Amino acid sequence: MQLTHPIFKILSGIAAEKGLEIYVIGGYVRDLILKRPSKDIDIVVLGSGIELAKTAAKQLGNLTVSVFKNFGTAMFRYKGMEIEFVGARKESYQRNSRKPIVEEGTIDDDQKRRDFTINALAISLNQDTYGQLVDPFGGIQNLEDGILRTPLDPVITFSDDPLRMMRAVRFASQLNFTIEAITFEGIIANKERLKIVSKERIIDEFNKIMLSPRPSVGLKLLEQSGLLEVFFPELTALKGVESVDGIGHKDNFYHTLTVLDSVSRVSDNLWLRWAALLHDIGKPVTKKFVQGQGWTFHGHNHVGERMVGKLFNRLKLPQNEKMKYVQKLVFLHMRPIVLSEEIVTDSAVRRLLFDAGDDIDDLMTLAEADITSKNEEKVRRFMHNFRIVRQKLKEVEEKDAIRNFQSPVSGEEIMEIFNLPPCKAIGDIKNAIKEAILDGIISNDPAEAREYMFKVAAELGIQKSS
Ligand code: CTP
Repeated sequence: MQLTHPIFKILSGIAAEKGLEIYVIGGYVRDLILKRPSKDIDIVVLGSGIELAKTAAKQLGNLTVSVFKNFGTAMFRYKGMEIEFVGARKESYQRNSRKPIVEEGTIDDDQKRRDFTINALAISLNQDTYGQLVDPFGGIQNLEDGILRTPLDPVITFSDDPLRMMRAVRFASQLNFTIEAITFEGIIANKERLKIVSKERIIDEFNKIMLSPRPSVGLKLLEQSGLLEVFFPELTALKGVESVDGIGHKDNFYHTLTVLDSVSRVSDNLWLRWAALLHDIGKPVTKKFVQGQGWTFHGHNHVGERMVGKLFNRLKLPQNEKMKYVQKLVFLHMRPIVLSEEIVTDSAVRRLLFDAGDDIDDLMTLAEADITSKNEEKVRRFMHNFRIVRQKLKEVEEKDAIRNFQSPVSGEEIMEIFNLPPCKAIGDIKNAIKEAILDGIISNDPAEAREYMFKVAAELGIQKSS
């Protein structure tokens, strides 16, 4: 194998000089063969990883080494890469804990304890075998065939670290690989053990699935294996079709996956993808069959918005503007569609723009992806109306700059002109001006707004101060 990073020759020199056995292992080797970029290099040595890191760092001009004594690992940065060092180990984990009992081992022992055959590949840095692959479990063949398989019995590999079940799905989704049948059965058998893994680690993998080219690949596997039910039952609740009097509704789980994939084709924004995942999350709890109307999901956007808050909290997702953004898009997701069903008036477009603000483009992307009807005529009509909505959004924004609306008359101005102390009337006047702009009664223009302000004030019985 062709090893280009300068660290490899340095380590090879140390191996010869000190009589050590050193290998590069894991994700770096996998990605080298797949021609994918990597950010870190994992080095394994028969002996102390910490000592090797220190020796190498010294040779490279006293680089700073971070030592993780408890794990027996060390790391430094060199030429754009994080280089991580560990001693080869034979490892067994204590049940219900992630703390491993570590024993020194051979390279074979070390490879065995890794998660998948494609991640257990090593390349020798020892002089007589430099660049040779060490592949005891058929990792290369599995890479070629696009297969994820554990080196040991999957029950052992997954109970050693249950997060690996999420990793299996994550790699399948990122690389578009298949999880081999026995390995997949191992996930099904061990799914409950995911409960001992922290939410942060689960979500870290889940977000990698969300950022993969087609997140539906991973989400379907999570659903089929039963993992999704363990940590995200709100999503599995979207599954299924009920029928009353021969009238069914669509399966909202698969609809959601279609929307998520469509959004993912045009955007890498993780939070927009989350909004797509959660846009219909309120449907199961709002679902009703109404005679004469069929299935209804009244207020599912509003319920969904509230559920997003609870979910972000439970799943340890950020409780900040990212969450607010997802909530906003979930709440507004039907607005552009409703708009395109009716006559598209300027004032409706202005209100949409006011409510969505800078997130209008993302909202339009989500709403457009939400059209998954199989009725071609219906889709064609929606798309046509969407073009009109987009065009009007542009015109209205150019004319009235609603996106980041700031009242053209400030509260201070109103107080001064009418000699008022801070009071409710000021808010009422400002609000009336905003409404008039959104309704198209006046333009978003200071002179027009001031004129309108006097009209509103007069109606409220407020006189201009002399
Ligand atoms: N590994 C493992 N079990 C885990 C995590 C990691 O066996 N739960 C091993 C695998 O051999 C893996 C290596 O440690 O290749 C490095 O792990 P990590 O950096 O987390 O993942 P990568 O495989 O490098 O993939 P990525 O960089 O995409 O996260």
